[in-house]
Amino acid sequence: MAIFDPHSHADDQEPFTQHIELELRVDFESKRLAGKARLQLDRPATGSLCLDTGKLEIRAAEDHQGKPVAFAVEPGDPIRGPRLRLALHGAEVTIHYQTAPGATALQWLDPAQTADGQSPYVFTQCQSIHARSVFPCQDSPRVRTRFHVKLDVPRALEAVMAAKAIGRTEQGERAVAEFRMEQPIPPYLFAFAVGAIGYQDLGPRSRVYAEKPLLAAAAYEFAEVDAMILAAEGLFGPYDWERFDLLVMPPSFPFGGMENPRLTFLTPTLLAGDRSLVNVLGHELAHSWTGNLITNATMNDFWLNEGFTTYAERRILEVLEGKDEVQLQLVLGLRGLESDVARFKDRPELTRLRTTLEGLDPDEVYSRIPYEKGCFFLLRLEEIVGRPVFDRFLKAYIQTFRFQSIDTTTFLRFLDEALPEARGKIDLAAWIDGPGLPSDAPRPRSALLEKVELAVKACEQGQIPATDNGFSASEWQVFLSLLPRKLPLPVCEALEGRFHFSESKNAEIRIGWLTIAACSGYTAVFPAARTALLSIGRMKYLRPLYLGLLSAGARPLAEATFAEAEKRYHPVAQAVIGALLKSKTTEEPRT
Ligand code: BES
Ligand code: ZN
Repeated sequence: MAIFDPHSHADDQEPFTQHIELELRVDFESKRLAGKARLQLDRPATGSLCLDTGKLEIRAAEDHQGKPVAFAVEPGDPIRGPRLRLALHGAEVTIHYQTAPGATALQWLDPAQTADGQSPYVFTQCQSIHARSVFPCQDSPRVRTRFHVKLDVPRALEAVMAAKAIGRTEQGERAVAEFRMEQPIPPYLFAFAVGAIGYQDLGPRSRVYAEKPLLAAAAYEFAEVDAMILAAEGLFGPYDWERFDLLVMPPSFPFGGMENPRLTFLTPTLLAGDRSLVNVLGHELAHSWTGNLITNATMNDFWLNEGFTTYAERRILEVLEGKDEVQLQLVLGLRGLESDVARFKDRPELTRLRTTLEGLDPDEVYSRIPYEKGCFFLLRLEEIVGRPVFDRFLKAYIQTFRFQSIDTTTFLRFLDEALPEARGKIDLAAWIDGPGLPSDAPRPRSALLEKVELAVKACEQGQIPATDNGFSASEWQVFLSLLPRKLPLPVCEALEGRFHFSESKNAEIRIGWLTIAACSGYTAVFPAARTALLSIGRMKYLRPLYLGLLSAGARPLAEATFAEAEKRYHPVAQAVIGALLKSKTTEEPRT
């Protein structure tokens, strides 16, 4: 018996699941999914099969002939949750169950929480370890599975899934939507949404889905998606997932984007009206190679997923928007990285690329470190061997490990074989197993950056720029990221008075500014901060805004706002922000 994943009960001495067939009824009244999951295994076996179950309520289990299979739900541990132990005989088991009302992967929205205001909405967010709250499974990314899913939904609503749609049949007040995912994916990439969803085509293999009131804005914002796919294919090889559709989520979606295969989920905070936040789309697209094709075997190696993707995102951006734009993104990345290294100053082991997360909840230790340190590591390798050689290495890496889930040791072995040019020229121990950012990390540089740095210096001396300098959205983002967190009130007043950041349609600029202003105790923006906290569910914005209020001594406002907003947040955001407000953190607020 061998447990190999700090976040799963999956045991590699037992068979692995190859295929899952789900039939689920989506019930908005009870806020539950109910039905059955049929797991087909990679070999027949007799004995224990241990599955992750979250708080699923298990009703019965049967074998391929419909004969009962004995099972027990065991206590497990606080991180993995309960363990479903089945007395397996054969290569298949069907489990009848329903989800718990508080299932952590599901957010059930009342009509009032949607853009259309008329219909309820439900969506999943399974990464990192929440798939188990939707269906019983070996919830480790090492166990890749194909899916066949039937969702029974109210007839008036649309069901969309990160899978191929193969039909919908309507009967009375209900409809059954059927989907197949024919490529093996880790459980964290399982995803669907049900609501009053419409769509608009964007290109030959993309369309955008959204609630109808958002469709036109969404179609405008993401119109360049086909150019992005072509750029990415030029860099990383053919797109393997047939379609790349987008789903613009309700505002409570807790992330910027989620790379669900064939159907990326995106926060509506990307709808800036000027396509200035499409790097997030580039990031999720990049996951189609670095992540969905090759992912980490466990969360200990998360950097293989997000670090490669952050590097790949910026390569796509370079093709579409040029090198200067990438340098600005690198500055933003570096600032984020430095701030998370500081956040973990007492837990430096969490600032390594290769981590040991036994006993730790991935949602609690989520940070930009695997993203940005991973990206800078790959940039350093590229710098050492030169781009042509590095590009050949990247393509070979993708070709070698496609549809696998690998660990850092496997990566290092491949690096040694496939990139001998780098041997001896980089301190791998420091990059992979050392804390913080090694000193040979490439430094972002560009003329644009110097312009922004001058404006920041002027502000620090109390001189507010007279004009907007022709700054682009990214330049403003960098400007805000380089400003001190606490500014004198007259400087706050002058900046807001001149540039009206708190009304910016670009959420990075708006929230970036509100964070600094809140932190500075500039009470004129508190109402805008409160409005943002009540209307947005993206944790990247909630954390710094709450931290900003706390650091300005506005704890009562922070707590009262959370009390009011909590029930609208996603279950994961409720937990993460709840813990933040309970802690005595003095963390620096930064979007
Ligand atoms: N896969 C992540 C989101 C995620 C990570 C969800 C871990 C749950 C657990 C996604 O690809 C991502 O990284 N999104 C970023 C945007 C990106 C540009 C850095 C986000 O949500 O902000
Ligand atoms: Zn990502």
